[in-house]
Amino acid sequence: MSESTAAAQVEEVMASAMAELEATVDLERLEGWRVSYLGRRGKLTQILRGLGGLSPNERRAVGAAANRLKTLLEDSLDNREAAIKQAASEGNSDKNAIDVTLPGWPAAQGGLHPTTKIVREILGVFHSMGFQVAEGPEVEWDRYNFEMLNIPKEHPARDAFNTLWVDYYDENGEMPMLLRTHTSPVQGRYMEQNKPPIRIVSPGNSYRYEATDATHEWQFTQIEGLAVDRGITFANLKGTLFEFARRIFGQERKVRFRCDFFPFVEPGVDMSIDCFSCEGKGCRICSDTGWIEIMGAGMVHPKVLEAAGLDPYIYTGFAFGMGPERIAMLKYGIDDIRLFHANDLRFLKQF
Ligand code: FA5
Repeated sequence: MSESTAAAQVEEVMASAMAELEATVDLERLEGWRVSYLGRRGKLTQILRGLGGLSPNERRAVGAAANRLKTLLEDSLDNREAAIKQAASEGNSDKNAIDVTLPGWPAAQGGLHPTTKIVREILGVFHSMGFQVAEGPEVEWDRYNFEMLNIPKEHPARDAFNTLWVDYYDENGEMPMLLRTHTSPVQGRYMEQNKPPIRIVSPGNSYRYEATDATHEWQFTQIEGLAVDRGITFANLKGTLFEFARRIFGQERKVRFRCDFFPFVEPGVDMSIDCFSCEGKGCRICSDTGWIEIMGAGMVHPKVLEAAGLDPYIYTGFAFGMGPERIAMLKYGIDDIRLFHANDLRFLKQF
């Protein structure tokens, strides 16, 4: 390397190093700059290593220029580093600067689950008729789920409620704890704590040890209803549930009550509405019957009132229990109840 070439290289390195440093705005790139000029294989380091090949005079002149450049680059590096850190702490570096002209990030929008929506709609209807919301636990005692509802041990009606028992034994070696099979236990709990007049609706999860299919889940929602007072008759039950059906399924709906058996009501009924799809002519939705069953109901059994400490000679009442998922299926034409828990956004976003 001749003296003129070496001196020119020092000039070139200085020009490019200072220009690049000027454009360096973050610490990561600053480190890259340091390595490329001052690192073990950096451009300036190469020049210093090549000094040994120059004549003594040349070595002195070029060496002095290269060492001055080294000091200049090291000082400039320190200054630049301090400037970048200062800008970052003021939130002012190019990297952190906010460009107010950029469009904002779209906020991910959630929505209410269809079960929540239909439950709220149903509760709203009953609320407007003077019912309050009361809730009960999902892990329940046999006493509230069965005994107080006139379903003693060994009663065959227990078979209809495929029960999930909780692995807890009492001193008699019995398993008295379960996942409630319906929301009806809230009846006894509420009547124990509150005196009539009572008008409550009680939404919540229920569990049954059942094989799932298009209309059955092992975990599903129910809404219980209970009205107890002096002089409540079956006419009150019919009027209330008729109004509910018309508000949810349309003003022109007809209702039908047929005898059914539940140990906690007497008389017991199932309530159907005329098919809103075919207007009672018969179609796939109503299985060609013209009617769609929507809930079980009846007059509260005297033994249930008694078990909760109320005198059945003074008070009477009606109760009902429905499955909101099944109501939503009818209302929105959903053909499989398992969709409610499948977590598929294509389904959920439709509501
Ligand atoms: C009962 O559970 C009674 N406790 C209802 C009742 C209350 C009657 C008060 C009288 C007085 P049932 O087993 O029919 O009854 O269930 C009521 C509703 O819950 C059904 O109409 C249905 O909509 C819903 N349901 C029941 N089992 C399931 C299931 N496996 N999957 C989804 N929904 C269900």
